[in-house]
Amino acid sequence: MHDFLYKNDTLYCENVAVPTVAEAVGTPFYLYSGATLTRHFAAFDRAFADIPHITCFAAKSCANIAILRLFASLGGGADIVSGGELFRARTAGVDPQKIVYSGVGKTADEIRAALESGILMLNVESEQELAQIQEVAAGLGLKAPVSFRVNPDVDPKTHAYISTGLAKNKFGIPIGDALRVYLAASKLPNITIKGVSCHIGSQLTLVSPFVESLAKVKRFIAQLAEEGIVISHLDLGGGLGIRYNAEEPPDPAEYARAIKQELGGLACTLILEPGRVLVGNAGALITKVLYTKEGLKKFIIVDAGMNDLARPSLYDAFHLIQAVERPDREQTVADVVGPICETGDFLARERMMPNVTANDLLAVMSAGAYGFSMSSNYNSRPRVAEVLVHQNDFHIIRARETNESLIQGESIPDFLKKQSV
Ligand SMILES: Cc1ncc(COP(=O)(O)O)c(C=O)c1O
Repeated sequence: MHDFLYKNDTLYCENVAVPTVAEAVGTPFYLYSGATLTRHFAAFDRAFADIPHITCFAAKSCANIAILRLFASLGGGADIVSGGELFRARTAGVDPQKIVYSGVGKTADEIRAALESGILMLNVESEQELAQIQEVAAGLGLKAPVSFRVNPDVDPKTHAYISTGLAKNKFGIPIGDALRVYLAASKLPNITIKGVSCHIGSQLTLVSPFVESLAKVKRFIAQLAEEGIVISHLDLGGGLGIRYNAEEPPDPAEYARAIKQELGGLACTLILEPGRVLVGNAGALITKVLYTKEGLKKFIIVDAGMNDLARPSLYDAFHLIQAVERPDREQTVADVVGPICETGDFLARERMMPNVTANDLLAVMSAGAYGFSMSSNYNSRPRVAEVLVHQNDFHIIRARETNESLIQGESIPDFLKKQSV
């Protein structure tokens, strides 16, 4: 499943001892296993090998250019949601013809940059966005390749914050309105209709919602064909879940089998946008115990907080936390909390934890997806380093930010400089 394993009571990532990395880069830091990333990509991509497809890694889940490059080197593309992610993908060397661009709020500048880069397609999420794309494309004198993200109104049975395919969610065009929008688009001079796209949510642990939404999309594609609109690409989004705790999500092979069966030989190139399933279990956040304190409850205070890993605070998400050394020590119930001035700043609550003391290292597991990429500078904390292990070596793929980087771009205007302090 992943390459974080204990050898003689010390946690290793592949052949690298985690304390060795901590010594070299300080804590906290994100640690990724290149072998796990590679294996996960291969397993996913192989599951669709018998049909035309492109695996476009969802950059938002872990946007470091080294990770994007790794997947690109394995034949992957990128699913992007901003001009910043476009820049990252291009810098990493991702083939533009393997880039798809989703998101409800693309600006004219972002649309222009995407069209100038020659990406495979923009996944359009509203009629006003379509009008904007038409205008930008006309200005550039080219035809914009688009698909429309349809909202199939399917319950993905996941956390409400990461459900995207219900009618009440902000994403996509209601599938019942989509035919009218396609017909309107087919008359626009600077638009080329390439596909249909759909993404119903994240951390799905059942295949049935994927199949249900594909069935609806397939019926819609047949309606389009009756109107003479033939699509070449079907983008099914991402969303396949992973095991954080006791979940039992389908593996990529099972997911692919169900999708291919429902597709039933539909003649188009499938676009897949997996994020979490590729990177989630390939990364851990390594943090150091600063203090412990015991009163009504026991608190383990560590040097990583909700600004470094938002998921527990944001979604009450579970991440396994284990001692990097001597994992089988005695255990006590404790809250693992960070240094941020918020009661909501926790990594685990009321959890059986090994009896760690100051300076012990802890590994917050399954933190590769939506870990670093959702981190912030809240409480003016420099964002942490990211480290990629490759066999016996490790590489810093993002340096720890400094205090100087915290105030980069800030300035004190002259009128304030003149005032004494
Ligand atoms: C449009 C789109 N595609 C792909 C993904 C990736 O989802 P996941 O990381 O669950 O695979 C997301 C995430 O929410 C998304 O919004």
